[in-house]
Amino acid sequence: MSAVMVVHGGAWAIPDELASASVSGVKTAACEGFSVMKKGGSALDAVEAAVRSLEDNSVFNAGHGAVLNSEGEVELDAIIMDGKTLGSGAVSSVKNIANPVSLARAVMEKTNHMILTSRGANLFADSIDVSTVPTEKLVSEFERTEWEKHKNYATGVKEDFNAKWAHDTVGAVAVDFDGNVACATSTGGIRNKMVGRVGDSSIIGCGGYADNFSGAVSCTGHGESILKVTLARLIMSYMEQGKAVAEASELALQYMGDRVHGAGGAIVVSPSGQWAATFTTERMAWAAAENDTLWSGLNPQEKFQTPLNEWNL
Ligand code: GLY
Repeated sequence: MSAVMVVHGGAWAIPDELASASVSGVKTAACEGFSVMKKGGSALDAVEAAVRSLEDNSVFNAGHGAVLNSEGEVELDAIIMDGKTLGSGAVSSVKNIANPVSLARAVMEKTNHMILTSRGANLFADSIDVSTVPTEKLVSEFERTEWEKHKNYATGVKEDFNAKWAHDTVGAVAVDFDGNVACATSTGGIRNKMVGRVGDSSIIGCGGYADNFSGAVSCTGHGESILKVTLARLIMSYMEQGKAVAEASELALQYMGDRVHGAGGAIVVSPSGQWAATFTTERMAWAAAENDTLWSGLNPQEKFQTPLNEWNL
């Protein structure tokens, strides 16, 4: 059985000035996650490593580079899910944490709960010695400038995720050499969101889902729309009805567009290693590593191929 790693850097109208850094960031993250599995790590280890790489890269809206809420604060959401056990852990509205995906994994592995939010999640982080970082360290220059320009959230939301102001989410899905699948998703949410607003990313079945019997999904896009249609589970249910991964994603995204006028994207992997990266926004940076090949894309229908060699592993 071959392993596959797929990552995304968020579905939105990525401006040209961020295009090349976004593609380079997802390629690096896919290689890092794939390398974890080549060295014997699980799909769960791989999605955590890939999402940490994206959270550490300030071109993306997660960890460093996260968007600011209406008070100019960073509030982060993340989920991780293990398709072998259906165990999952999530955090929402956490502050000053550089890698929320690892805190989500700790919620899964070290508590009896599935989601911790806000102060409770930060208290838990303190209790397991996860260090905090000052907000200034998480905020990119790009975000500070954009936040100053677009302080009106209501106007922005009406324009949907094809608007240039939106900036969305990172995620990873993987199947490992033992056939186990996993997903992880992490985000700063939507710029100028209300304090305490939680989107889809930390909600099981919405921002992500993983089940060894069906596959793994990580979603991106307008959180309130994704929540209304439970996008990750909708994609899985199409797969469970026998649809191929690309068709399942396209049908679910189409439904979200028709039913609630929401735009977004998804990456999907099946237990047998079929994968897809699909979006209804203008662009989504994505990359996939399998066998000896690194695939990547940004614009609709784009699929570039480069050798996955010792250097990028
Ligand atoms: N998709 C991320 C969010 O809406 O929060």
